[in-house]
Amino acid sequence: MAALEVLAVALMLAVVCPPGCSSLHIGQLQVPGPIRNGSVKDVVLDCDYEATKADVGIVIKWFLNQLADPKADPKGEPTLVYQWIPGRIPQALGPLKGRVNLGYRATDEPSTRHRALNIVNPTIELSGEYRCQVSSLDGEDSRAKKMIIYVPEDNLELTQSKASEEGQIRLSCEADGVFPRPTLTFIQKPVDSLNATVMEGAEVRVTDRLDGLFDIEADMVVDAAALDDGPEMVFGCDLEIPDADIRLVKWERYESISGAAGLALASKRLSLLLPASLASSLSVWAWSSRPRL
Ligand SMILES: *[C@@H]1O[C@H](CO)[C@@H](O)[C@H](O)[C@H]1NC(C)=O
Ligand SMILES: *[C@@H]1O[C@H](CO)[C@@H](O)[C@H](O)[C@H]1NC(C)=O
Repeated sequence: MAALEVLAVALMLAVVCPPGCSSLHIGQLQVPGPIRNGSVKDVVLDCDYEATKADVGIVIKWFLNQLADPKADPKGEPTLVYQWIPGRIPQALGPLKGRVNLGYRATDEPSTRHRALNIVNPTIELSGEYRCQVSSLDGEDSRAKKMIIYVPEDNLELTQSKASEEGQIRLSCEADGVFPRPTLTFIQKPVDSLNATVMEGAEVRVTDRLDGLFDIEADMVVDAAALDDGPEMVFGCDLEIPDADIRLVKWERYESISGAAGLALASKRLSLLLPASLASSLSVWAWSSRPRL
């Protein structure tokens, strides 16, 4: 039994690495986590491999599968963006042409010196999956990781208004100029609770702008009667950028429509622009002058 196992392991090793095989192996692929567009001067993506003298004909290639490229192959074929053969000058190609510091040295070793990508002023269109491929005459290894250059939202706004349907309120939320593609959900919780629950039934629209950024808006209709009877509620508009691991929630207290939410809200928005004293008298005015339903 034990002898059989030893034989099995030996066979497996033979398949993975036949006699005279190369030791070419990528240890770590270092790619920075999400980066805010315009926040850094340059980034380094390092493909840390080991090679021995037995490895002849080493070639290092970097490929990029761009997250957002209107001209990209819909099948998402990665593009060759960098190539280096030890002893020669490295080359940046395609979307990285003119964007890489070709003089950058990851190490002082002639066989690994230019293995890294030093991208200068990384911007959103360089977001995507980077794959490093190292090959020699008798071996190859490759590893990939995502790099995301993101743009946070310009403004995240949650509003409540009277829906055209009787006894209903409409929640609307929007954010402009986000990258990569965001998601929006409405959540709610009682004022004094920490537990928010997702509100089902929202209609979400995402606009893909010419500049590559996304606008997103969502709305949904909620039954007011249940809200008026229950505990005081807070609505949240939950904006997420999954690729960049970013989440932002805008909270608004529920405005009862048994008192014309639209009007009360209009005054509330004005109050942001006015001195507190004037704003409070203004909202008192809105409160007392609104029509009774
Ligand atoms: C990203 O940052 C660059 C500066 O590095 C700036 O020129 C560009 O307008 C920014 N793009 C967006 C969409 O914010
Ligand atoms: C809030 O969430 C926690 C953890 O999920 C749960 O144990 C608790 O019962 C919840 N409370 C309410 C009021 O729903």
